[in-house]
Amino acid sequence: MKNIDKLMRSFIVELGEESIVSFYDRIPQQGKKLRSKLIFEIAKDSESSFNLAAVIEMIHTASLLHDDVIDDALTRRNANSFNADFGDKSAIMMGDILYSCAFSRLTLLPQSVAESVSKAVASLSAGELLDVELSKSFNTDKERYFKMIYCKTASLIEAASYSAAVLEGFEGRDFALYGKNLGLAFQIIDDVLDITSSDKMLGKPALNDFKEGKVTLPYLYMYEKCKEKDKKHMASLHKKSLNSYENAWIKDKMDKYNIVELCIKEAMAFGVKALSAIEKYNMNGLNNIVRQMVERDF
Ligand code: FPP
Ligand code: MG
Repeated sequence: MKNIDKLMRSFIVELGEESIVSFYDRIPQQGKKLRSKLIFEIAKDSESSFNLAAVIEMIHTASLLHDDVIDDALTRRNANSFNADFGDKSAIMMGDILYSCAFSRLTLLPQSVAESVSKAVASLSAGELLDVELSKSFNTDKERYFKMIYCKTASLIEAASYSAAVLEGFEGRDFALYGKNLGLAFQIIDDVLDITSSDKMLGKPALNDFKEGKVTLPYLYMYEKCKEKDKKHMASLHKKSLNSYENAWIKDKMDKYNIVELCIKEAMAFGVKALSAIEKYNMNGLNNIVRQMVERDF
C-alpha cells in the first residue's frame, strides 16, 4: 500500500504549493487502507486501478479530517488529530484540497466510475448530517441508524467495489452489493470496538460514542432488551461524561444481554450477504477481506 501513499502525495505535490505539501505530511497516517485492499482484490494492477485507489483513499482521508472537526476529536490513529494541531479552519481547508484533488483525478476514470464515486460522496455527507441530527437526541430507531451507517460508511466502500469491478469488466451490481454489505458489517464492528477496545488499540478514545450522543447498534440492542426502569436510566446517561459507576452499569447490562455477541452475529450476517453476492466469481481474497474485517480488534 506504500505505492498508494506515494501516488496520493504526488497528486498534492503537483499542486505546486510547498505549504500544502507540508500540511499534507502532518495528516495522521497508517490507516488500514481497507478500500484499497478491496480494489486490488477485484482489479488487476493498472494505472486506472492505482488512480481509483488513490482517489478513494483521498476522499476517505478528507472525510475523516472533516469528521474530526465535526466530532471535536483530538486524536486519530494514535496521534493528535489534524484539527488538534492546526485548528478547525485548516482541517476543513485541507479536507477540501484532498477532496478536490481526488475529483480532478476521478474525471480521468470511466464515466460510470466517476458517477458512482461522486454519488457516494454526496451520500457520505448526507450520512454525516444524519449522524449529527440523530446524535442530538436519544435515537431508538434502528432503521434510521442503518440508513445513517449505509450513507456514512458503506456507500464509499460500495462505490469502491463497484468501480474496481467496472475497471475489470465484471458485473458492477454484484460487487456493489458485496461492498455495501461489507461496509455495513465494517461500521457495526467499529461501533462494537468503541465498547470492547482500549484507547491505545483504537488510536482514539474508547467508550466515546454514547458520550458524543451516538446511539450505535450495541446501545440500540441494549435499550431494546432493558426493562422500563433501566430504559429510563439509560436515556438519562445519554450524552453525559460517565463516571466509573455509570460505565460499569452499561457494561454490566451489555454483558447480561450478550449485546456484543448479538452485534457481531449481525455483522457476520452482512458478511455472509456480501459473499453470496459474488459467490460465482470464486475470489478467495474477498472472503479474507470479510473475515479480517469481522475479526479485527482495531
Ligand atoms: C467517521 O465516522 C466518518 C465517516 C466515515 C464519514 C464522514 C463524512 C463526512 C465528514 C462528509 C464527507 C466529506 C468529504 C470532504 C468527502 P465516526 O465519527 O463514526 O468514526 P470515528 O470514530 O472514526 O471518528
Ligand atoms: Mg468521528
